[in-house]
Amino acid sequence: MNKLSFKLGVFIFTIIIIVEAILFLFLYTNLASSRVEEVLENLLARGNSHRDVLEKRFDESTLNHVALMESEAESLVVITDENKEVIVNSEPLSSEIKALLDEPLTDVSHSGKVLDEEWRTSQYVAAVSPITIEGEKIGYVYMFSPTMAVQRVINQLTNQFLLVGFIAFLLTIVAIFILSHFITRPLVRMKKATEGLAEGREQVNLSYKHNDELGQLAQSIVTLSNELERLKQDRKDFLASISHELRTPLTYIKGYSTIASRTGITEEERNHYLTIIKEETEHVTQLVKNLFDLAKMDQNEFTIDKRPVSLCDLLGKVHEKMSPILLEYDLALHITCDTKVIVNVDAERFQQVLLNLLDNSIKHAPPHSNIYMIVQIKGGRVAVTVRDEGEGIPESELPFIFERLYRVDKSRSREFGGSGLGLSIVKEIIEKHGGEVQARSSLGEGTSMTIVLKKEDLLSYE
Ligand SMILES: Nc1ncnc2c1ncn2[C@@H]1O[C@H](COP(=O)(O)OP(=O)(O)O)[C@@H](O)[C@H]1O
Ligand SMILES: [Mg+2]
Repeated sequence: MNKLSFKLGVFIFTIIIIVEAILFLFLYTNLASSRVEEVLENLLARGNSHRDVLEKRFDESTLNHVALMESEAESLVVITDENKEVIVNSEPLSSEIKALLDEPLTDVSHSGKVLDEEWRTSQYVAAVSPITIEGEKIGYVYMFSPTMAVQRVINQLTNQFLLVGFIAFLLTIVAIFILSHFITRPLVRMKKATEGLAEGREQVNLSYKHNDELGQLAQSIVTLSNELERLKQDRKDFLASISHELRTPLTYIKGYSTIASRTGITEEERNHYLTIIKEETEHVTQLVKNLFDLAKMDQNEFTIDKRPVSLCDLLGKVHEKMSPILLEYDLALHITCDTKVIVNVDAERFQQVLLNLLDNSIKHAPPHSNIYMIVQIKGGRVAVTVRDEGEGIPESELPFIFERLYRVDKSRSREFGGSGLGLSIVKEIIEKHGGEVQARSSLGEGTSMTIVLKKEDLLSYE
């Protein structure tokens, strides 16, 4: 029995039973002792009232009258003289009564005294009231009541307690059963739902709608299942796109290598085909490298090693790297950067980001146009903008360009060897730095991509 409902039930049950037992015991002893006290007080009061009568008239007829009155009752009365010699008794005296009569009396006041309270062990409880006339003790009124009466009262009480206790016990069990069932049933359902999820079942249906912790848990499980579903779909889409991406250059490579290996073609033709093969191979290599980077980012193995770097120097390096291709398309790159901006970034990754952005601008800018790289300090944060005068991105596409493998114009992008991973890598790297990327574009006018770093990463500037 390892069920939660059982454990919970046993736990609550034990606690309630202990509390109930303590309460019952307390109540029982209190009630029992007050009942016994009541009986003893009654006995004493009765003895005292006999005594009062006798103090008024202490003669034979009164004595007999008292004895007669008591003979009808369950209790019995014994009246003695001052030396405890029996004068009259309402019933014959048993040995136990005699023994009690023989016991010496010490400090008995006029209001009397309870002699024997041992109702559990002895046959009688007893009380004595002294008869005093004109300051002189002339005898005693002894009252005896069989403990049977007290015991009967206590037995009755015990029986009532047992009955009530039993009912309480049953009610406790039923209440706990319902309660634990009520609490654990949604949990059991959630357990089944998550097992279903693990087995790959699509939909999770949890109808627990209350707004308590269990309701929140159920809601989390539903959210989790939806998220899982979305991830599965994403993975499927991604794999499909990847295989497509890889297949295209491989088809080219295969086709051109077949043609290049043919006999009877000119050296020039062969070189042309080999160049295409080389380009496509580079494309695949780049694609695989990018995918590998993204995979590392997903597994959090992609570490950012931040160091103080001169941002303007970094832009200069990027310019230098890109100058052959800028020359090729006759593009002018204008860099606006204050002499000393020191930022805390991973220089290599940051360079990769700038190269990716610049690469996009070069691909989309018309020949002989301008590209700008501008560094600005805004509100204590450093912003780097790469802007071109290219064809721009339609507004409806703008939200998606950072998604993996997303390209606005597939065929055109392929011409340049793009696979739609560049911007997603930019975004990942910048977010790992704690910064953000903003894209702004208007069709026919150009595109501008801005990277804004965290405040803390701007170390100093002049
Ligand atoms: N400067 C830009 N001008 C116009 N379109 C752009 C620019 N930068 C990115 N894009 C669009 O966003 C898409 C995604 O960019 P990217 O992730 O770098 O992929 P790739 O460059 O491999 O195509 C590109 O295919 C292109 O359609
Ligand atoms: Mg790109």
